[in-house]
Amino acid sequence: MGDARPIGVFDSGIGGLTVVREIMALLPNESIVYFGDTARVPYGTKSPEVVRAFALQDTRCLMKHDVKMVVAACHTASSVALDDLKGAFPVPVHGVIEPGVRAALEATRNNTIGVIGTRATILTGTYERKLTALRKNVRVESRACPLFVPLVEEGWLDGDITRGTAAIYLDPLKEKGIDTLILGCTHYPLLKSVIRDFFGNGIRLIDSAEETSKTIRETLQSNGMENPARSDPERLFFVSDIPAHFQQVGEQCLGMPLGSVHQVNLEMDEMSRGRNHET
Ligand code: DGL
Repeated sequence: MGDARPIGVFDSGIGGLTVVREIMALLPNESIVYFGDTARVPYGTKSPEVVRAFALQDTRCLMKHDVKMVVAACHTASSVALDDLKGAFPVPVHGVIEPGVRAALEATRNNTIGVIGTRATILTGTYERKLTALRKNVRVESRACPLFVPLVEEGWLDGDITRGTAAIYLDPLKEKGIDTLILGCTHYPLLKSVIRDFFGNGIRLIDSAEETSKTIRETLQSNGMENPARSDPERLFFVSDIPAHFQQVGEQCLGMPLGSVHQVNLEMDEMSRGRNHET
């Protein structure tokens, strides 16, 4: 019994490593293949159609590595493309939105929840819909924070510019009296201490990466899909542009060496896929 194949995880860039970090902590025996679409980051400024097409390509890239499950470790992709991904691949596909929604509803005491995310995620209204579907009288205050992603990709996880940017984005949410804040972008847990300092200890920060890894564990356990091997899980990292910067910031984020990070050419992959379909 069990399944030794790796878990596939994708994001537009570095952010999905926050999910990898939590999977490694909770499921240390699992092998992981990660794809960061660094050539096309950010997704959060793009249209739903474009993000959907990218998410399908990213998943096809992971499927080549014979993954047993796919995690869309990107709220932008999860909010526009999760149903498309679930229908298109023969493995379980997890997003990062629902686990955070459940955790936020459990955490709030005053029924006033803040959500921060990319512009694309906030524009879909996915969080409001899912939160109010589960609890009618919950008040949801949403705010797009588009500059957070480039700050994280640059490795500026603290400092005056990051703190100043956070204050401008988060001040209106503070005024609305939220007691719980969903970090609705996988890049944002890397700014957790800046966000925590801004709000103080009274706020409950919902880290979707932590919540998602619990859901992944449940799926693996209930389907008998855990890795039966007890040692040497493999962690492979792929990106669609030059690996050096991803490697440097990724190691800062995971607090461990990534080994060699490989560059893949998605367009060439897609062209060869097209050729295979013709023959
Ligand atoms: N980390 C991603 C998310 O959770 C995408 C950020 C971006 O590429 O804009 O939305």
